[in-house]
Amino acid sequence: MIILKSPWEIERLRVSNRLVAEVLHELARIIEPGITTLELDRFAEAFLLKRGARPAFKGYNGYPHALCTSVNEAVVHGLPSKRRLKEGDIISLDLGSVVDGYYGDAAVTIPVGQVSEDARRLLQVTKEALDRAVAAARDGNRLSDISHAVQSHVEAYGFSVVRVFVGHGIGRALHEEPQIPNFGPPGMGPLLRPGMVLALEPMVNVGSPEVVVLEDNWTAVSKDRSLSAHFEHTVVITEHTTEVLTQWD
Ligand code: MF3
Ligand code: CO
Repeated sequence: MIILKSPWEIERLRVSNRLVAEVLHELARIIEPGITTLELDRFAEAFLLKRGARPAFKGYNGYPHALCTSVNEAVVHGLPSKRRLKEGDIISLDLGSVVDGYYGDAAVTIPVGQVSEDARRLLQVTKEALDRAVAAARDGNRLSDISHAVQSHVEAYGFSVVRVFVGHGIGRALHEEPQIPNFGPPGMGPLLRPGMVLALEPMVNVGSPEVVVLEDNWTAVSKDRSLSAHFEHTVVITEHTTEVLTQWD
């Protein structure tokens, strides 16, 4: 069952998601060659706590940090560490918050200094794929219209969509129904309705869509070690429009 949110709940979700966006914006400003992914994690956690929020990922299925930091070939769930970022890296930052019991969730992939042409195109196309997903997530469409919008955009550029991770409903839990694949035919699945709150999150590889998990049991990397990008917005569908709750720029 997809839980429809009341206007009061949507206001709570606005607060939680706006905070996530604000932290991601600040993280983007402090990223530079030499900073460690653990420093980014500490910054994010301190920022959330200072605002009376709790990091949603910490303790979730035993995840040990506030932030996921996925560098280069890492797709998602990269563990913060003493690794120092270097010029030319790309890093996905994925953050969740809980405020008054309501969850926020968003991710952005950021270039560290000057990056390769391949990396620039990957970031551009993945961000555009998220924009397509947001546009498809509207009252009267069907769930798989979102999936199809992402896949068709990504594959038109010769990149591939990761299959094993999906977007999701979000509210009083981090993961609610429905699951939202980033691939599939249009016109299938449940009708999208006002009051639905969805976390849309395309994950895109330059090479094959296959993913493997490293020995740390968290970091998911592309099997062929090609570059990977991930962008995520939480949105609410209303009668007239779809509102992005995690606008970060
Ligand atoms: N944005 C991811 C998701 O929605 C992050 C989950 S990381 C975890 O699933 F640590 F919480 F698992
Ligand atoms: Co998510």
